[in-house]
Amino acid sequence: MFKNKIPDIGMSEKDLFEDLENSKNLDLDWKSGKTFGAVYYPGESYSKAISSAYVKFMHENAFDPQLFNSILNMENELVQQTASLFSSNQKLFGNLTSGGTESIFLALLSARNWSTKHKNIKNPEVILSSSAHPAFLKAMNFLSIKAIIIPTNNDFNLNLKVFKEAINQNTILLVGSAPAYPTGMIDPISELSNLALENNLLLHIDACIGGFLLSYLKKCNYTIPLFDFNLEGVSSLSVDLHKYAYAPKGSSVLLYRNDELRKEQFSVYPSWEGGIYGSTSFLGTKPGGIVAATWFTLNHIGENGYVGLTQKTMSATKVIYDFIQKSEDLSIIGNPIMSLLAFHSEKYDIFHIADELSNLGWYIGRLQNPRGIHLVVSQIHADGAAENFISDLQTVLNSLKKSKIKNKMVKSTDAFAVNTLKKTGFTSIKKTILSKAKSTKKSKKRLIYDLKSDLNIEESDDLFKSILSNFY
Ligand SMILES: Cc1ncc(COP(=O)(O)O)c(C=O)c1O
Repeated sequence: MFKNKIPDIGMSEKDLFEDLENSKNLDLDWKSGKTFGAVYYPGESYSKAISSAYVKFMHENAFDPQLFNSILNMENELVQQTASLFSSNQKLFGNLTSGGTESIFLALLSARNWSTKHKNIKNPEVILSSSAHPAFLKAMNFLSIKAIIIPTNNDFNLNLKVFKEAINQNTILLVGSAPAYPTGMIDPISELSNLALENNLLLHIDACIGGFLLSYLKKCNYTIPLFDFNLEGVSSLSVDLHKYAYAPKGSSVLLYRNDELRKEQFSVYPSWEGGIYGSTSFLGTKPGGIVAATWFTLNHIGENGYVGLTQKTMSATKVIYDFIQKSEDLSIIGNPIMSLLAFHSEKYDIFHIADELSNLGWYIGRLQNPRGIHLVVSQIHADGAAENFISDLQTVLNSLKKSKIKNKMVKSTDAFAVNTLKKTGFTSIKKTILSKAKSTKKSKKRLIYDLKSDLNIEESDDLFKSILSNFY
């Protein structure tokens, strides 16, 4: 039963753990690799040890560097250990943040403050490809920075020519992704680095999802283009450790080439009545547990362990990649470099396939422009999940193939439902979607994507804010 009050007398540990277990049982079976993205799990044995490190420092606060020496040392060590992957000879400066979004927010904050101070830029603009992660747009919204979004080329690559043309006297920063989430392709970072140097601009590399894995792919002799501080024009780089470094959630490192730029992300209020206030990142209170657990993760898994996890990740990726390549019905989108895969279908509605896969318990992403299914493959998929996935995918394709008539009927019922709703106007669309959003019935997300295509930006924003609000 839903509790809306704190119980008068605390419930027993036993009852509460039973509750937790029961609610966990309703969740998706992620430990068997049913999620593509969102969960990065290093396996039972590593995970057990890492969680003990978390618990050991669960109550310590990493906010004040003078408070817990242990935590300060661990943060400094793990930042330098991470930095060693991204620069062959230079000392870098950085901090642990709560995730990719915070790292990106802080990189933009520093760029904005630095450019106001040193270049007197009052109306800052940042140039980024349409494939860059929305965390950038979110941060720019908070920071009143204008986003200049450059649509990708027909081959899904960053459009360098238009990027170049967009540079003006208000430009403070260029953004490159290594790789970009949608197709798993690396932007032309070396060319961006030259562009930044030629125009005296800052360049941030979003290596949140891929930086760590790419570094280990290099160690496994994959050919990976330069994307880091070994390119002179790169001024900052974000890399999430709660992704392919397999640290618990709430862990990312933001690195800078120089300390002057990093200092611009700090907040200091020396005259506050409550005392001198200084904080290095967005958070105030910062969990000691995540610092200890991240430090423990890097040092416990170690180079050897990461090479092993990387090989497992790539073997699972290959199983799925090969299946798609061989399929007559599916094709890979773009030219993915690591373990992010996107694919579409000329024959079938790919979102129909996605709905069927969701009904079989898979958590997968959906791509737009072009429509596609998006997978983030990791080591968890190497113990059978990749094979189970392609087997389910084949089953879905077979059933679409077999029931051509049924398939046509589904298409026309979809089109009918969407057109009828579109005719009823936005208020009615919103009401229908909201009433279905929380339902436990099999979802047809594809209909929402179809409906959305006819909404204007305000309606679309309103609809999706209302859906979010409906959940909480
Ligand atoms: C390329 C990229 N950048 C940034 C982020 C945002 O990271 P987070 O969700 O940890 O805030 C993600 C998340 O998937 C990502 O893939």
